[in-house]
Amino acid sequence: MRSLFLLLVSPVVIAIQQAPALPGAQAISSSDRVYTADQTSNTITVVKPLTNEVLGTISLGKPRMTDQLNPQYLSSVNSHGLGFSLDGQYLSHTSVTTNTLTVVRTLDNTIVSKTTVDRASHESFFAHDGKTVWVACRGTENVNLVDAINGGIIGRVKTDSGPSKVLFSPDGKLAYVNHINSPVINIIDVAKKEVVHKIRGLGDVFSSDMMISADGLRLWAVHKKIGKTSIIDLSARKVVTVLDTGAESNHPNFATIKNITYGFLTVAATNETRVWRQERPSSIPVFVHSIPSSGVEPHGIWGSPDGTRMYIVNEHSDTLDVVDTSTMKVITSLVVGQESQALVYVAGAVPSPATGTENLGTQGLDKRCENRLIRVTNSTDASALFTIRQLEGLEMLQIIGRTLEINQTYVATAACKTCNGGRLQIVSFKATVPMPGKLGCAVAPQVLSFLPFFTNYEIESLQVGKA
Ligand SMILES: *[C@@H]1O[C@H](CO)[C@@H](O)[C@H](O)[C@H]1NC(C)=O
Ligand SMILES: *[C@@H]1O[C@H](CO)[C@@H](O)[C@H](O)[C@H]1NC(C)=O
Ligand SMILES: *[C@@H]1O[C@H](CO)[C@@H](O)[C@H](O)[C@H]1NC(C)=O
Ligand SMILES: *[C@@H]1O[C@H](CO)[C@@H](O)[C@H](O)[C@H]1NC(C)=O
Repeated sequence: MRSLFLLLVSPVVIAIQQAPALPGAQAISSSDRVYTADQTSNTITVVKPLTNEVLGTISLGKPRMTDQLNPQYLSSVNSHGLGFSLDGQYLSHTSVTTNTLTVVRTLDNTIVSKTTVDRASHESFFAHDGKTVWVACRGTENVNLVDAINGGIIGRVKTDSGPSKVLFSPDGKLAYVNHINSPVINIIDVAKKEVVHKIRGLGDVFSSDMMISADGLRLWAVHKKIGKTSIIDLSARKVVTVLDTGAESNHPNFATIKNITYGFLTVAATNETRVWRQERPSSIPVFVHSIPSSGVEPHGIWGSPDGTRMYIVNEHSDTLDVVDTSTMKVITSLVVGQESQALVYVAGAVPSPATGTENLGTQGLDKRCENRLIRVTNSTDASALFTIRQLEGLEMLQIIGRTLEINQTYVATAACKTCNGGRLQIVSFKATVPMPGKLGCAVAPQVLSFLPFFTNYEIESLQVGKA
């Protein structure tokens, strides 16, 4: 009788907690998974955090430039956002270009449903009913509600312009939405499906990513374009401060370590994750650590529920760093799919004895990826970060130009291998995005060129200068 009793109560005792969690959550287990959404390889990478193994990738369509511009192409394009159900059974995934919301069963990596949602679906999350996915569609003024299992839009909630991400309160009764065109957080009553409050006075109109702490009392909304983060006290529903967090501040997350809440934030331009300690939801965070990334442009970040590890994906190196939070150092680095954006940690995704290795392939893994940070010729401050990635049959060359002259045209060149030192133009571009706080300066955040680069050009010869 006694053993039967234990057997019956054990599922209650080991109820899974998802990160970020309060102290006392379960340790990292073999049933947990980390997922990254990889834009260029058009995949989701599946990682086993207990052993730090990459198990493989789930393909959502063809990699970039392979059939995607064909008028008969019907699959998804631009793997971008990730959310999950609290029981760990499902992932929600967004493809920005094709407006696709894909639901994946974590047990065996099968696709459960695909729904065409509204323009520029960016991030999504499961409501606490475990059946409905709320999707922020940045090209609109609403959040779509999707039937996860059967597919299809079953509702829309009107928001401010450019909803970017949806997160739920720990009790599941409220949803929080940030925006890319409005300096405001919308608070939605989940049962009523309407906005019941707006937190105003954010640091910028553009907030792409945000996160809520385990206690449900802190919300950090990041403003990537100005390198700042609005620190919000959710019980007071007020902005505590707008913190200077660093150029190209990306994704935030939280961990409770020795009963203290720490905010972690990936800062892309300086290849680091910065850590702040925040005593109370109303306190101004105190900077405590910088964790240098092993790679370039850290982006998505999520911790383990027990707060011992943080997982950080380096968007421009196609690698994932594992950080030990007791030393705040990278302890290992794994090779994942290409140009990852979001990352989530899902506890209890693959309960034993399942292995969760079905339906995985290798699309986007172990491809060559090189970065070179180059000073713009004849300038003092201007720089260009080149990232060159191997695709199928050609390469993708990307430039992030920084501190350029506004509205000036620039030309990137490289020495051609068969031209006796002669240089050829790789791409030309105009710097049009004003740099906050630097009058007359601009960035060129996403210059792209597709060409067979490694075969034809010397990578160490890259240059960029005024046209
Ligand atoms: C942990 O912190 C919370 C909030 O500050 C406090 O109420 C609680 O007593 C602390 N627990 C321990 C074990 O220190
Ligand atoms: C980021 O990484 C790139 C490539 O390794 C490197 O060239 C650059 O100096 C790094 N930037 C900073 C600020 O450390
Ligand atoms: C740059 O060009 C844009 C578009 O033509 C124009 O609106 C803007 O005023 C220009 N900026 C500067 C500083 O010349
Ligand atoms: C850099 O400056 C030198 C000297 O003025 C000039 O000859 C050269 O063409 C310039 N190069 C570029 C790329 O602007």
